Amino acid sequence: MSTLLVTGGAGFIGSNFVHYVVANTDYDVIVLDKLTYAGNRASLDGLPEARVRLVEGDIADAALVDSLMPEVDAIVHYAAESHNDNSLNDPSPFVTTNVIGTFTLLEAARRHGKRIHHISTDEVYGDLELDDPNRFTEHTPYNPSSPYSSTKAGSDLLVRAWVRSFGVEATISNCSNNYGPRQHVEKFIPRQITNLIDGVHPKLYGAGLNVRDWIHADDHSSAVLTILEKGRIGETYLIGADGEKNNKEVVELILTLMGEAPDSYEHVNDRPGHDLRYAIDSTKLREELGWAPRFSDFESGLKDTIAWYRENEAWWRPQKAETEAKYARSGQ
Ligand code: NAD
Ligand code: TYD
Repeated sequence: MSTLLVTGGAGFIGSNFVHYVVANTDYDVIVLDKLTYAGNRASLDGLPEARVRLVEGDIADAALVDSLMPEVDAIVHYAAESHNDNSLNDPSPFVTTNVIGTFTLLEAARRHGKRIHHISTDEVYGDLELDDPNRFTEHTPYNPSSPYSSTKAGSDLLVRAWVRSFGVEATISNCSNNYGPRQHVEKFIPRQITNLIDGVHPKLYGAGLNVRDWIHADDHSSAVLTILEKGRIGETYLIGADGEKNNKEVVELILTLMGEAPDSYEHVNDRPGHDLRYAIDSTKLREELGWAPRFSDFESGLKDTIAWYRENEAWWRPQKAETEAKYARSGQ
């Protein structure tokens, strides 16, 4: 392999992957990104032009995707509509991008004989009770709750069928909640950090007892690279770093790290159908492929993330007012 097509490479996790690949490998990258509200050219700033090229376009545009195939050796597929709250307000782009877009890439991979790695989420498994001793594994049945997670589940199943029916060389990874630089301010952690910069209290949905299993975006990138290079074709790997925390604990830590009283948050309307807990067992990835996370200290990763938002206000400021106006309309 020498050139990767990274779809969604101007988004949060995709851009972190592109930075990671440039810093740690010899691969060149073509980013295919529609630059929706969630995509940001500035997320690719500082990368060498000789190694990274941005193509602005839609993954559901079969002619465009086809035209890029001769230039690439493998596809790493991040592009998606990614926010649960948006999927509850308007599911339509979730179906188009997550399902039809993935179908379009699979067909191109099939026609041109290209390796494809599909990025997915642990949310395809539904949720766990707070006291359930089990975590999600590769054998957990799919049980998605929201339009977002159901379209991701649909895309995963397409990938599995294209492997079995057409021999497409694909792998899938399902990762837990990511944090780190360049995440849109609509998401939980950056929303609270940027609210505090603006002198606004953090907002907790409901009682704040929902649990997410946090992983740093760089650990997600190293796992994806490992699977791309060493994963067995047709296999699914779960990616997680043993980072379970409830939302209240995360908000209290952000408040403390930003010099505020740990209880100065507000409770707002809960999300309809709000998944209670996600938790990943990543034994298969660790034992079979020898991967291990490097960011084991959530507090220091969060400190760096807070510093990034403080130092990069020009990156997030243009999206902040519109994002908060949308939340205000749903009492959140
Ligand atoms: P994001 O919303 O920050 O970025 C998505 C990117 O895809 C944006 O740059 C956007 O412009 C682009 N895009 C959207 N529709 C497109 C289309 N039709 N054609 C081309 N580009 C398009 O999302 P993210 O949080 O970086 O998530 C990336 C991937 O990782 C998604 O597949 C998501 O399901 C998965 N994932 C995310 C998390 C998380 O915690 N955020 C966890 C596990 C898995
Ligand atoms: P989010 O970042 O939207 O990720 P996901 O829904 O994919 O897990 O939300 C993470 C958790 O934080 C989730 O339980 C919802 C909650 N949340 C809040 O409590 N307040 C907020 O302002 C937001 C955006 C999310």
